[in-house]
Amino acid sequence: MELDFKYLVSRRRLLRAGACLVSTAVMGSRLSLASEVDEHELNATHGRASLAGADAPWTPVWAYDGMVPGPTLRVQQGRPVRISVVNALDESTTVHWHGIRLPNAMDGVPGLTQAPIKPGESFTYEFTPPDAGTFWYHPHADSLQQIGRGLAGALVVEEADPIVVDRDLLWTLQDWRLTKDGQIAPGFGSMMDAAMSGRVGNIVTINGAPPGDQTVRAGERVRLRLVNAALARMMALRFEGHRPIIVAIDGQPCEPREPQGGRIVLAPAMRIDVVLDLQGDPGSRHAVTDDFYDGLAYTLTSFVYSSEPPLRANPLDAPVRLPANPLPIPNLADAVRQEIVLQGGMMGGGKLKGVGGMVGMAMPGMNGGPAWAINGMSMTGDGHAGMAPLFTLQRGASCRLTMRNETAWWHPMHIHGFSLSLLARNGESVPHGQWQDTVLLAPKDTLECAFVADNPGDWMLHCHVTDHQMAGLMTVFRVT
Ligand code: C2O
Ligand code: CU
Ligand code: CU
Repeated sequence: MELDFKYLVSRRRLLRAGACLVSTAVMGSRLSLASEVDEHELNATHGRASLAGADAPWTPVWAYDGMVPGPTLRVQQGRPVRISVVNALDESTTVHWHGIRLPNAMDGVPGLTQAPIKPGESFTYEFTPPDAGTFWYHPHADSLQQIGRGLAGALVVEEADPIVVDRDLLWTLQDWRLTKDGQIAPGFGSMMDAAMSGRVGNIVTINGAPPGDQTVRAGERVRLRLVNAALARMMALRFEGHRPIIVAIDGQPCEPREPQGGRIVLAPAMRIDVVLDLQGDPGSRHAVTDDFYDGLAYTLTSFVYSSEPPLRANPLDAPVRLPANPLPIPNLADAVRQEIVLQGGMMGGGKLKGVGGMVGMAMPGMNGGPAWAINGMSMTGDGHAGMAPLFTLQRGASCRLTMRNETAWWHPMHIHGFSLSLLARNGESVPHGQWQDTVLLAPKDTLECAFVADNPGDWMLHCHVTDHQMAGLMTVFRVT
């Protein structure tokens, strides 16, 4: 592992480590490096889940440790982790640690960074997360089926000095296309899904269950970590009667601020951390809605206040700004410029309303062929050996990357191994010091971002609407 990330070790952390030393000394054991490694095991296997409510039939799923979502892995910033993944599925898999800046060999892309893990085999991932924040993990093999059948979980990297909140909540949002009898609908990779908005489902779950009411108490402050682990469904959440403050996007802290128009836009693979001061009246009820798609708004869940008296009279008087992560700052004056252009897809509207518009048009993606391209080239699938890089960057160089969406569709573009500093959207500078590994482009958007190519290897850059990735909206770049 050659990465050279630096951290500020907090005082609290040193104290904690000190306390630890004392107790191990008492127990007479030796403090070895191994004991400093956080060990986990994950089993990719079959399971069943109750996705549509107690009265509905169980749904057979593919799941980590048989659970939907997979177990939430909580690890410490700067502390080595070792996660052994056992493949108990009937097909090959890998695990990708989405958003974590880690060594290339641990990135989980079959063919490109590792051999696929065959059924009955295992692979041990080892890395030291440099950044604190909300991340997630998912397979990068047969991705449409494997993610679509339930393989996904949250990965929380804890700050040494977290902000003060009463509760730290996590919502892993998943979207399912179920048949009437509760089975996962067949037809993964259909040409309609591939060339349009992707496989958007008909059931959204929070933490693997149909979202019932969320019980809260007046006066409390919560940190809510939102993870969109859907294959394709974009979400735009509104918290009625509340003013959420965004404190991090894709794990990376930003200047705390309210979302534009009170709407938290969360595309597939994105994470947003918000701080919520629950200032409603005891006994009151407030909907959380998702209105991303025109005319298809629905109530996701509701905050239901208990009748207890408020925990405190006024909102907690404590800062909500998260400690910065050790991201390398690009040197824009001396940056290499690269441009990627997103092409293809059907020419409908961007918000699911173009569905009728396809009649009589030639279908890109016909017969499973590519429906999308980046700079005129379609890389399809999940990753495989011999993918030639679109461009090569010298290690340490700053890169100014322009992404131009020539299509009529939304694309959450995801970069492996790095986080992107957002500079400008459609010519207007992006405020709030935002870094993201997954950036959402609206139809016809142009986005400028930058990053330091400090991490060697062949890295993927693709749309995280999984059908789009599979059908050609993917590329590879190299850092040498
Ligand atoms: Cu979260 Cu290449 O993916
Ligand atoms: Cu990723
Ligand atoms: Cu896309």
